[in-house]
Amino acid sequence: MTTAAKPLIGTAHPRVEGRDKVTGAARYAGEISFAGLAHGWLALSTVARGRVREIDTESVLSMPGVLTVLHHGNAPRVETGYTSVLGVPPDPTVAVFQHDRVPHKGWPVALVVAETSEQAREAAESLVVRYDQEPHDVAFSARRDAEAAPFDGHMPPALVEKGDLEAELAASAVVIDAEYTTPEEYHNPMEPHATTARWEDGRLEVVDSNQGTNWVVGELAGLFSLDPGSVRVRSEHVGGGFGSKGVRAHQVAAVMAATVLRRPVRVVLTRRQMFSLAGHRSPTAQRIRLGAEADGRLRALEHRSLSRTSTVYDFIEPSAGASRPMYAADAHHTENRLIRLDVPSPTWMRAPGEAPGSFALESALDELAERCGVDPVELRIRNEPAVGPVSGLPFGSRNLVGCFREGARRFGWAERDPRPGIRREGRWLLGTGTAASSFPAMAMPSTAALTAEADGTFTVRINAADIGTGARTALTLVAADALEVPTERVRVRIGDSDLGPAMFAGGSAGTRSWSWAVTAAAEELRGSLLPGATIPPEGVTVTSDTTEAVGALARRERHSYGAQFAEVAVDPATGEVRVRRMLGIFAAGRIVNPLTARNQFVGGMTWGISMALHEEAVRDQALGGLYGPDLAGYHFAAHADIRNVEAGWVEDTDPDDPVGIKGIGEVGIVGAAAAVANAVWHATGVRHRHLPIRPDRVL
Ligand code: MOS
Repeated sequence: MTTAAKPLIGTAHPRVEGRDKVTGAARYAGEISFAGLAHGWLALSTVARGRVREIDTESVLSMPGVLTVLHHGNAPRVETGYTSVLGVPPDPTVAVFQHDRVPHKGWPVALVVAETSEQAREAAESLVVRYDQEPHDVAFSARRDAEAAPFDGHMPPALVEKGDLEAELAASAVVIDAEYTTPEEYHNPMEPHATTARWEDGRLEVVDSNQGTNWVVGELAGLFSLDPGSVRVRSEHVGGGFGSKGVRAHQVAAVMAATVLRRPVRVVLTRRQMFSLAGHRSPTAQRIRLGAEADGRLRALEHRSLSRTSTVYDFIEPSAGASRPMYAADAHHTENRLIRLDVPSPTWMRAPGEAPGSFALESALDELAERCGVDPVELRIRNEPAVGPVSGLPFGSRNLVGCFREGARRFGWAERDPRPGIRREGRWLLGTGTAASSFPAMAMPSTAALTAEADGTFTVRINAADIGTGARTALTLVAADALEVPTERVRVRIGDSDLGPAMFAGGSAGTRSWSWAVTAAAEELRGSLLPGATIPPEGVTVTSDTTEAVGALARRERHSYGAQFAEVAVDPATGEVRVRRMLGIFAAGRIVNPLTARNQFVGGMTWGISMALHEEAVRDQALGGLYGPDLAGYHFAAHADIRNVEAGWVEDTDPDDPVGIKGIGEVGIVGAAAAVANAVWHATGVRHRHLPIRPDRVL
C-alpha cells in the first residue's frame, strides 16, 4: 500500500456521489422501475375521528387501469406484537387497513392500485368513503397539563429529580419562572417518501427512501411475519430524512399490494400526504424555573415540558431532557409529560427534545443574565459543570466554554452594549443574542466489510444511509486514511440491507458508528495483508463488527456542544424580524469533512432561524386537520431570509472513539432559535416566549 501525503480526515472533499446527483444519474426510490410495475395511491380519511362505515370500491374498480382497492375489509393481516429495531413496540400507525377506526384526519383508509400513477390517483380521488363520525379533540395547550397521562417512557426517562427544588428556589437571590411554547412543526425532506416493493424468488425486495434499510427490514419482517433474511431493502440515495424516514404507512401498503397482486407496486406520498403520514414535531408547552445567586450561579433548575401525541402511539417530545446535560445546580428537576389527542403520531424531528427544549432553557438563561446584570456568555461559563449535572458522570470531552470564547471573539461580542433597545439604524432596532447548544454523542454497533481488490483499489461495504449528510464521502475519507491510500482508490457501497447490520442515519450517530466499523475493518485488513502480496482476482475481504467495542465504551457524559450567536434587525413599525448574521461555533468531535460538516451546521442553524421566526403548523379545531398542509401553507425560511450564516468549530475529539468523531447532524439547530429570540429581546426590550416570533407578536 502506498502512503498518502497527509491525513485525509479534516480536508475538504466534495461529495463522492455529487456528480451523479446533479446530472440525474443518481436514482431515487420513486424513479427505479421494475417490469410490470403497478402504482398505488393512498386515500386518506377526511374526518378526524370515527369509523369507516362503507367504502364504495365498485365504482372505482371499473375505472381505467384500476387493479385493486385495499382497505380494512380485504387487506392482508399484519402482526404488531413485535419489538422494532429501536427496541420499542412498533407505531400501530404503520399497520394500515387492519380495522375501521379513524384516529385522526389524514389516516390511510385505502390504497388504490392501477397500471399508472395517474389512473391510481384519479381513482383514489374519486373513491367515496362514508364514515360514522365522532367528536374529535385536537386542542393542545399548556392548560391541559393536568390531563397528562402517566407515561412509562422508554428512553429518555420521563422524570429526573435531583435535590430539593423548592428549598433551593426559596434560598435563591433571583428566581426566573417563565412559560415557553413552541408550535407543531414539520420536517419535509425535498424528496417525498417513496417505495417500490416486489416479490422476487420468494424474497421481498423493497427499493425505498429511508434512514436505514435494516430498520425497514426489521419492521416489514415483523409486520408480515417474515424471516428478516428474506427481506431486502435498498436505499442508495436519499433526498433528506430529518427523522421522518423510518417505516410509514406507504411501505406497508406497497408490500400488501405487491403480495396481493403478485406484481411490483410503487407508492409515493404527495407533499400534502406527508403532513399526516410522515410524522412531525409535537407542539410543546414548557415551564422553566431557575433559582440563582445574585452573581448568576444556579442553585435550582426546573424544566417541565408537555407535548402531545396521537391516540394510537405514545411518542414523547423530550424537551425537558435538553436541560439535563447543560448546567450545574444543586436541585435539578426535569420532566416530560404527554397528552393524547386525535392527531397523527408525532415522531423524531431533527434534534427531538433538544430543539424546542433549548429554546426554553436558553431563553430563560438570557432572562437570568438580564436580571443578574451578568453577560450572557459569562453566565454560561459561570455555570459550567465539572461532571454531568444529573448523571454525575465524567465528561468524555466538553469544550462548551471554548465554543463561547471563540464565538464571542469572531462575532465581536465584547463590543456589545448589554442594554436592550438602544441600537438603531434608520427604522431598524438592532440586537444580538447568544445561546448554548448540545446534542448527545452516541455510537451504535455496526458491521463492515472491506475488500482489497486485485487492481489495487479497495471496496468498503457498509449498510450506511446517506440522507444528504455527506456520510458516504466521510466514510470514503475515513477508509482512505485508515488504509493510507488516496480517496480515488476507495469506493464505498451503502444503502442495502444485504450489506449487513449497521446503525441507521439517526441520533447524529450514523457517521460515527459506521466510521468505527470501517476503521476496524481497515485495521484488520492491514494486519492480514503483507506488503507487496499478490491479491487474488476475487480480492481479499475482511469484516468487522463493533458490537463488543461499542458495548465496552467507558461510561461518560458524551455530547457535542456549540455556542450560537445571532444579530437581528427589528422593524417596530411592521414587526418584521431579519436575522442579519449568525455564527455557530461547535465542539462536535473530530470533523471528518469540513465541507459537508459546514453544510450540516449551517443547515441546522438555518432551520433554527426558521423555527424562531416562521414555522408553525396551525390545526383547524373544527375539522381536525391543518390549514395549508403543504410547502405553500407551511411558512418556513426562504433564501432571502438567510443572509450571513456561518459555522466553525474548535478542537475537540472523543477520547474513546477510534477516529475521535462525536456527531454533527443535529447540534446545529439546538439553541439557534433561542439565540434569535434573545437577540430580538436585545433589539426591542421585549421577551418572546412563544414561537414563532411573527410580526403580529412583535408589534
Ligand atoms: Mo434524527 S431526528 O435522529 O433523524
